[in-house]
Amino acid sequence: MARILITSAIPYINGIKHLGNLVGSQLPADLFARFNRAMGHEVMFICATDEHGTPAELAAAKAGKPVAEYCAEMHEIQAEIARGFRLSFDHFGRSSSQRNHKLTQHFAGKLAEAGLIAEVSEKQVFSIDDNRFLPDRYITGTCPNCGYEAARGDQCENCTKQLDPTDLINPRSSISGSTNLEVRETKHLYLKQRALKDKLEAWIDSKTDWPILTTSIAKKWLNDGDGLQDRGITRDLHWGIPVKKGDQPWPGMEGKVFYVWFDAPIEYIAGTAEWADANGLDDAAWERWWRTDKGASDVTYYQFMGKDNVPFHTLSFPATILGSGEPWKLVDYLKSFNYLNYDGGQFSTSQGRGVFMDQALSILPADYWRWWLLSHAPESSDSEFTWENFQTSVNKDLADVLGNLVSRVTKFAVSKFGNEIPAGGTFGPLETALIADLGARIADYTAYMKAMEVRKAASELRAIWVIGNEYLQSAAPWSVVKTDPEQAQAIIRLALNLIRVYAVLSSPFIPDASAAMLQAMGTKDQSWPHDISEAMRALPPGHGFTVPENLFRKITDEERTDWQTRFSGVRS
Ligand code: 2FM
Ligand code: ZN
Repeated sequence: MARILITSAIPYINGIKHLGNLVGSQLPADLFARFNRAMGHEVMFICATDEHGTPAELAAAKAGKPVAEYCAEMHEIQAEIARGFRLSFDHFGRSSSQRNHKLTQHFAGKLAEAGLIAEVSEKQVFSIDDNRFLPDRYITGTCPNCGYEAARGDQCENCTKQLDPTDLINPRSSISGSTNLEVRETKHLYLKQRALKDKLEAWIDSKTDWPILTTSIAKKWLNDGDGLQDRGITRDLHWGIPVKKGDQPWPGMEGKVFYVWFDAPIEYIAGTAEWADANGLDDAAWERWWRTDKGASDVTYYQFMGKDNVPFHTLSFPATILGSGEPWKLVDYLKSFNYLNYDGGQFSTSQGRGVFMDQALSILPADYWRWWLLSHAPESSDSEFTWENFQTSVNKDLADVLGNLVSRVTKFAVSKFGNEIPAGGTFGPLETALIADLGARIADYTAYMKAMEVRKAASELRAIWVIGNEYLQSAAPWSVVKTDPEQAQAIIRLALNLIRVYAVLSSPFIPDASAAMLQAMGTKDQSWPHDISEAMRALPPGHGFTVPENLFRKITDEERTDWQTRFSGVRS
């Protein structure tokens, strides 16, 4: 039994995530967690909400709530939706937890001890009416290059020129619109990533089995332009983790907080500590996942994320870990994803474009979405959600192929032989051929799942469902029963066992349907069919079963066009 640590990129607290966010991190991470549990491994699967930063503050202000209260409420909402999608986190933590405060301050202290923190004085725009420093992108003004009046302090979105806020003509606060701004001197901490460049490069070079998408992004940031830059890890904000050196005050840094991207990945560790706390366990229980001096040297650690998150996970977070000089676990395999587009454009949280997780669950159960999203995961390139494609996949793969097989077999079996697995006949050449074919395909499927080849795994699983249908087509128990009822019993005995095998194999993708199939087969036996010949005999003659409720319903053309219109606009 191996020990597998899995983290999904932690979603920002402000607002409900869209399906593009889901398929790029939490959902494939869940697939992998479920698969590894099915393999009998010990799994720790952690996610959390990413609660700090200016966007969280502003979203709270917009909602008219204190930011802590806003985050607590939004965390519950995201947790509920995650349960709705059957995301099987061992813990869904919060980056604002006390555990994360302590660990983040601990890492900063260790980095300072190692001489890897620089204190830098810089000039920044302060809004007197808002009583706060303004991050570059919260300053608006006229672009000196093209005259666009709503250019942001970091970049003009009209002509794409990179800007400095002091370049803007007539600058104003994007928060209040106030022009009562002044430039003030402020001090910040920088993580000296440059000093860690060689170590980081050697570490990335050692990861020869990583997806090209991951290593190409890491290499680009490592070597592009001036190469790896030192990074500001503090901000002048009210909401966040107060800057401290371990548990000691940090002179000159009073009133400042750590930058959200510094504390967010540390929440992977803190979230595991929160898991231990929530389960009444001691520190040793979470440290054995994270500290190689405390039992984690036999842990394999997998991270899942969208491609935009890769630089932070291949450079900044490893710089924190390596720079601390302590034996914390580094990621072993980083699975990254391209983007999912929506119906001819992009999903967009800020513009409310696309289908959001709560909306998706309000129209169809989780399995329908899980199946489509995973079987179309944007692995080798961006992929696109269209309602036509969604309808086709659900109706064909889930309803026609899998659902129909389960319903036809169970109904026929009950009507001819009653509610117990029939005992007659023996397996002949057709059954032997099916078993051989299944064995080979299950081996491929298992290998794809192990390698996190999500689309290939989905397509192999679909093929496994298809060969069951083809077998039934050729074996034709509904005809055979008229001439050779004993043989028809053998066919049905095999087909009912096939349903259990399908339930087990499909459970990482469609856990609810899988549970319904197992329940109908009257079994809790979820053992993976490593030996398929044995698995096809797991439910013995005389074993009771029932006809399940219809597993999947079809999406009608009317529904499809209705949803297409309903979700074509902008979510308010
Ligand atoms: O892109 C995002 O949604 C970020 N909130 C991901 C953070 S992942 C990690 F650093 F914790
Ligand atoms: Zn411009």
